[in-house]
Amino acid sequence: MLVSGSLSSWTACLGLLSALSATFAPAVAVKEHDWKKCHQSGFCARNRAFADHALTATSWESPYNILADAGSFKDGQYQGVILKTINDAGETVRLPITISFLKSGTARVTVDEEKRQKGEIELRHDSKARKERYNEAEKWVIVGGLALDKNAKVAHQDKNQLTVKFGPFSTFEAVINFSPFSIDFKRDGETHIKLNDQGLLNIEHWRPKVDKPAEPEKEDDGNDTPDEEGKEEQTEKKEEPKKEDESTWWEESFGGNTDTKPRGPESVALDISFIGYEHVFGIPSHAGPMALKQTRGGEGNYEEPYRMYNADVFEYILDSPMTLYGSIPFMQAHRKESSVGVFWLNAAETWVDITKGKDSKNPKALGVESKTSTRTHWMSESGLLDVFVFLGPTPGDLLSKYTELTGTTAMPQEFAIAYHQCRWNYISEDDVKEVDAKMDKFKMPYDVIWLDIEFSDDKKYFAWDKHSFPTPLEMGKHLASRGRKLVTINDPHIKNVADYPVVQELKDKDLGVHNKDGKLFEGWCWPGSSHWIDGFNPAAREWWVSLFKYDKWKGSMENTFLWNDMNEPSVFNGPETTMPKDNLHFGNWEHRDVHNLYGLTFHSATFEALKSRKPGELRRPFVLTRAFFSGSQRAAAMWTGDNQADWGHLASSIPMVLNQGISGFPFAGADVGGFFGNPDKDLLTRWYQAGAFSPFFRAHAHIDSRRREPYLHGEPYTTIISAALRLRYSLLPAWYTAFRHAHLNGAPILKPMFYTHWSEEAGLTIDDQFFLGTTGLLVKPVTQKDQTTQTIWIPDDEAYYDYFTYERIPTVKGKNVTVDAPLEKIPVLMRGSHIFPRRDIPRRSSALMKWDDYTLVVATSAKADEPADGDLYVDDGDSYDYQQGQYIHRRFTFDPAEGTLTSADFEGRNVASIKEGEWLKKMHQVGVDKVIIVGAPASWAGKTTAKVQSEGREWEVKVEFTPAEKGKAAFAVVRKLGVKIGADWKVVF
Ligand code: GLC
Repeated sequence: MLVSGSLSSWTACLGLLSALSATFAPAVAVKEHDWKKCHQSGFCARNRAFADHALTATSWESPYNILADAGSFKDGQYQGVILKTINDAGETVRLPITISFLKSGTARVTVDEEKRQKGEIELRHDSKARKERYNEAEKWVIVGGLALDKNAKVAHQDKNQLTVKFGPFSTFEAVINFSPFSIDFKRDGETHIKLNDQGLLNIEHWRPKVDKPAEPEKEDDGNDTPDEEGKEEQTEKKEEPKKEDESTWWEESFGGNTDTKPRGPESVALDISFIGYEHVFGIPSHAGPMALKQTRGGEGNYEEPYRMYNADVFEYILDSPMTLYGSIPFMQAHRKESSVGVFWLNAAETWVDITKGKDSKNPKALGVESKTSTRTHWMSESGLLDVFVFLGPTPGDLLSKYTELTGTTAMPQEFAIAYHQCRWNYISEDDVKEVDAKMDKFKMPYDVIWLDIEFSDDKKYFAWDKHSFPTPLEMGKHLASRGRKLVTINDPHIKNVADYPVVQELKDKDLGVHNKDGKLFEGWCWPGSSHWIDGFNPAAREWWVSLFKYDKWKGSMENTFLWNDMNEPSVFNGPETTMPKDNLHFGNWEHRDVHNLYGLTFHSATFEALKSRKPGELRRPFVLTRAFFSGSQRAAAMWTGDNQADWGHLASSIPMVLNQGISGFPFAGADVGGFFGNPDKDLLTRWYQAGAFSPFFRAHAHIDSRRREPYLHGEPYTTIISAALRLRYSLLPAWYTAFRHAHLNGAPILKPMFYTHWSEEAGLTIDDQFFLGTTGLLVKPVTQKDQTTQTIWIPDDEAYYDYFTYERIPTVKGKNVTVDAPLEKIPVLMRGSHIFPRRDIPRRSSALMKWDDYTLVVATSAKADEPADGDLYVDDGDSYDYQQGQYIHRRFTFDPAEGTLTSADFEGRNVASIKEGEWLKKMHQVGVDKVIIVGAPASWAGKTTAKVQSEGREWEVKVEFTPAEKGKAAFAVVRKLGVKIGADWKVVF
């Protein structure tokens, strides 16, 4: 966004926005008070107060009990009823509970509220909102993994408890306690996760609205007799249940907006304890360290819970639990050699409190060291209580199980992982062509140029600005001639003007979001007055898909791809810059129920649209989204929104991107250079270097900022930035391979230390360095001004080599090592025992490198006999033919004992039997240009040749051996191997 929420909303209301964007309003930091704090959000305040009471009262018992006789266990599922006692008279509310034990070893606990008899609960007479709790989040999010584990068995049952054994070899256990209700999840007999251990379960049941007469104010004469005083004290001691604050049950206001709440209070909250775990991670997106902080105050802690309520929080502050643009309510706890996690499937506004403390139930007196545990308190405004529990034990297990449910990252278009050049805005076709030409002139590879909102005719997104972009197809073809693409923006707000057929159709077919009165909702965004497409409506999605057909959206073509922005949704004049919560979506669900899903419905509709632009053309889409939820990874890449051109934001982008990766949505990046402001040349250069190691690599800049295309900065910057871009391009095969692994099993593309080295306690919370895929490349970008060395933590005893010089870095396991990092250098180390693929011929775009030969780099192990291995995945980078086996996936192994380097099919397929399509056939011409063996055995001195065997033939190749010298490791180079990349082959040294 341009300026602060309130300012932009008012300027928008005045219809001045476009004028303002041209007058370059000064950037200001986010106004924290434009977004709610917990005490300003009715249900958060109520649940925190509930927690305070429960945790401080001397005799607190959770009022939720399982009705022992009503439950039954069958085919891997327990179904029963929780009774909630709602008053002193013992009245109860029935809450059906289902505990499902899934084949994957994941457990799921779902609590609903029994539907009342007609008329028992009256909604306000004028409300159209549904009476059930929202129960369709699963429909949008879950794509598999729900099959029940029929082998799950009841191991014990009495009137107080039911124990179920489940999971791999029945090593997992759920102990369901009836009274009060709680569940202990165990692995190998040890408790790891507890639900409702602290008794904070709170399901605000539905109740009729009673208009109470105002209570007469009790007069206090201020003259209490000693007797009376004593009485007051006594009552305090008896700890009468604190009266609940009902003031926000039926209505609440914030920032001048009133939320009418026809269904009254309906939040769901639960405490989830991670026993013996000091660190929890996940629940993006927040700007702060990857290891989440405590949120109940104290030194170094936050005062506020982490919030998940997708919002246009431009110029966000760093180190904060404030909500950002997207939400993934998946939390994981890690400790040495154990990882567990939970996924809270709820799309409503959610807050999470985190506290840590020693486990008092584990006293030293018993000879057991008491451990720190993390306790979390989840609070959502509405919907079901629906929580999945993952018992690990490895970080990889958590990711594979979570993505089995929510889907893995889509295999991207190959160009999408190359470099993207964006700004708000390239203002004309000439501008686009000039940038394109200059990138070539300065030998800077790039794949995609982007058009922001000004490309359109007055923010009518399907219409091009006729003056600035009169011939978009010609421009598209010009880009295509170098293998390049165009991404244009398309936001969910549709300009509300008379002469715009798109809005006319939306109105005629009634496909927009409605306000609480059932009328088409109108609000303000970039175009001024707008309507919002209702992505929950199947007819609206179908319509949206139809708008992208090539013959409908004139000016779009095969190399046009999409950017979905402002889809939180951002509404300049709405509460907290978004939609009123009492707006209504398809099926009469309130916006409050589905808020965090809105962005996903929109970008997934765009994804579908790109798949059906022309009959018979089935290509992988590329869509960038700003708002997201669990499941978004199946259809989009994301970026971290409107950051700032300062060093802090550069540093913060690394934990943020790592956190995305461990949360199942690894196709992530931050605006290179920082969106707001003007980076100095050093900052910009360092940001390019960090961006070159970010899964999504795009430079972007605010309309106010000075032009900063990478070739504009003079020497040495131009050369250094160009080197960073080329490095990215040469490593594209390794990046693409990492995406393949992410696609197969949810693995992060950038792996934090805990992911690769789970037995190293000291690495658990490190969030500024990472390994790239399976390459063994250990990267720690420089993020401080004037920094010329970098300190890297070393997780093991392997050999580490400098990527650029082959210097063998003297490292010690568990210690930091300091390496040189002058401006021109990105700190990248190669870990021994890995092999990674590259393409070393620099070209203008990734498409032009498609048929180039590969280089393989072998980094030998510190242990003389330890093999090195690695892999390369490649397909046509565009179609879905890979799903029919049209791909090459090689496993490379260097065996120093045997003196061999081999290439075999990664999955052990018989490649000769694969029926080759056009692309696979063409790949016969692609081979291995070079092998570099870093840390080659000293015994190779004098070696000048090696033998190559492949496809029944054997021939000789030259070996150039360079002995170790001045700290540099010995290395050997073999050129022109003469093998096909897709064939089996062996080099014998
Ligand atoms: C939002 C986006 C930003 C974009 C701008 C104009 O602020 O986050 O990337 O440039 O809108 O479309």
